[in-house]
Amino acid sequence: MKLVKTKQEVRDTVKEWKKQGLTVGLVPTMGYLHEGHASLIDASVKNNDRTVVSIFVNPMQFSPNEDLESYPRDIARDSEVCGEHGADLIFNPEPEEMYGDMFCSYVDMDVLTKELCGLSRPIHFRGVCTVVSKLFNIVTPDNAYFGQKDAQQLAVIKRMVEDLDMNIKINGCPIVREADGLAKSSRNTYLSAEERRAALILSKTVNLGRSMIESGERDTEKIVSAMVKNIETEPLAKTDYVKIVDALTMQQIKTIDRPALCAMAVYIGKTRLIDNFEVV
Ligand code: PAF
Repeated sequence: MKLVKTKQEVRDTVKEWKKQGLTVGLVPTMGYLHEGHASLIDASVKNNDRTVVSIFVNPMQFSPNEDLESYPRDIARDSEVCGEHGADLIFNPEPEEMYGDMFCSYVDMDVLTKELCGLSRPIHFRGVCTVVSKLFNIVTPDNAYFGQKDAQQLAVIKRMVEDLDMNIKINGCPIVREADGLAKSSRNTYLSAEERRAALILSKTVNLGRSMIESGERDTEKIVSAMVKNIETEPLAKTDYVKIVDALTMQQIKTIDRPALCAMAVYIGKTRLIDNFEVV
């Protein structure tokens, strides 16, 4: 497995692969890889001849008040994870390699990005769409893999690929959880021992919402209100949002009468965590 820092090295490698008729999978990440990322690499390795993992903490998707500087980084450990899971190439550019001095072209999206995380992170999805488009142009993969934990991001990327006629299949992979239910996230490393215990309120609240729906409840206001009340039982937790939205448009719905997403963002201390479940 090779680690490269420049776009040209990626292009040269992928060109050789394509000459040989090989298929290419891309796993875009910001590094500090955990089992969730590993499951994306596994899915790519299984379904493509070659797998590229990009590791780039993308400054463009962080607001000035967010955790760009403190975002955890460990490229040595990440390289081991990629190697163990059979990736062929790591693309680990510096911000200057991705964004030149004159950079001023963006990929922006309406509608889907105005809800859920888009409300408290207004520039986030422009940064995500721009960097993912760039990665797609650099790597030219046949398949790309994203986690269902970032369900809105997955819906946004699918929409972007459809809207902009990008010839890439987007594959969503299930949320990977710790044994006690907490969804795996690089940001879990920010939690103190007490916060780590408190963070369980997210998966417990997911279970509550899911069981209400399984018992036949379809009124989203009732479900959301019970979920918010449940989060409030945890003193270290502060709800950013709990919402039930149409799975394709990310717009709120009153009744669950179509494929939907129930998503939440909750602060545990200063750390903002997300979780969700799909209703099919
Ligand atoms: O999900 C992430 O880690 C990032 O948002 C992504 C897709 C790698 C873009 O920077």
